[in-house]
Amino acid sequence: KRVAVVYGGWSSEREVSVSSGTQMLRAAKAAGYDAVGIDATRDLARQIAEAAPDVILNGLHGPWGEDGCVQGLFEILDIPYSHSGVTASAIAMDKRKSKAVYQQAGLDVAQDVAVTREEAARAHPLKPPYVIKPVNEGSSFGVVFVREQNNGPSQFVLSDDWKYGDNLMAEEYIPGRELTVAVLGDKPLAVTEITTLREFYDFDAKYAAGGSRHVVPAEVPEHITQKALEAALKAHQALGCRGVTRSDFRFDEDKDRLVILETNTQPGMTPTSLVPEQAAYTGMPFEDLVSWMIEDSSC
Ligand code: DAL
Ligand code: MG
Repeated sequence: KRVAVVYGGWSSEREVSVSSGTQMLRAAKAAGYDAVGIDATRDLARQIAEAAPDVILNGLHGPWGEDGCVQGLFEILDIPYSHSGVTASAIAMDKRKSKAVYQQAGLDVAQDVAVTREEAARAHPLKPPYVIKPVNEGSSFGVVFVREQNNGPSQFVLSDDWKYGDNLMAEEYIPGRELTVAVLGDKPLAVTEITTLREFYDFDAKYAAGGSRHVVPAEVPEHITQKALEAALKAHQALGCRGVTRSDFRFDEDKDRLVILETNTQPGMTPTSLVPEQAAYTGMPFEDLVSWMIEDSSC
């Protein structure tokens, strides 16, 4: 089978995608596929036509690659592709619209309010502590913590370094622990707890070696493990996802509250990423995970 691994692109998560794509390409070749890599540009339709693959393994992250855009192109080209389709990708990428779906599925979510950059900077949109997030980004890009009332609202959102659009939200900060669950088709894999000495699980905590510690299986009460596994599967299904996803949670121990933050339809496949680690924990080496994604592809 000829497989094109599409990666890179031009979103803020490009570097993460180059890493995911490199790993997946190597694994696809090792698993015996006739695999080629495509570093995605705006000329992607022609790039794919030249590669003439039977299957596309989507290694993109962030806007265009994870939000339904590129999935629409794959549909038009009529080539089976991995991971979620157009609608599920689009809804999951929107951190506010996805919450409406989670709530309908009976999952607990954090309160939030939609704000523009100006609104986020002018006055506290919520009572601190709260978190400012771009509605459509990944890898913690543009995530700002506002801890104290007297610190004032974030001014970073108005700076020239802000590259994450005008579609923001202020979200209730859920104190406690960070958990994540990968789903493969109809199977949640495991619960991982992520701890970091940094202020939160930010970009460097995610991708610098030693930036965070992952504990799998998470040492949380058994009912929370079960609840997280079930919630990740429910989220995956309610959004209409396909293939691999990874849902991120906060666990507030004092309130015994498990809150879903988001579902990643193109979860990272880098050397420090969580899904390959959970797969390995369940006895599935990375090569098998990549083969599974290729064989699960459709359009
Ligand atoms: N957005 C990154 C790639 C992740 O969710 O793993
Ligand atoms: Mg994400």
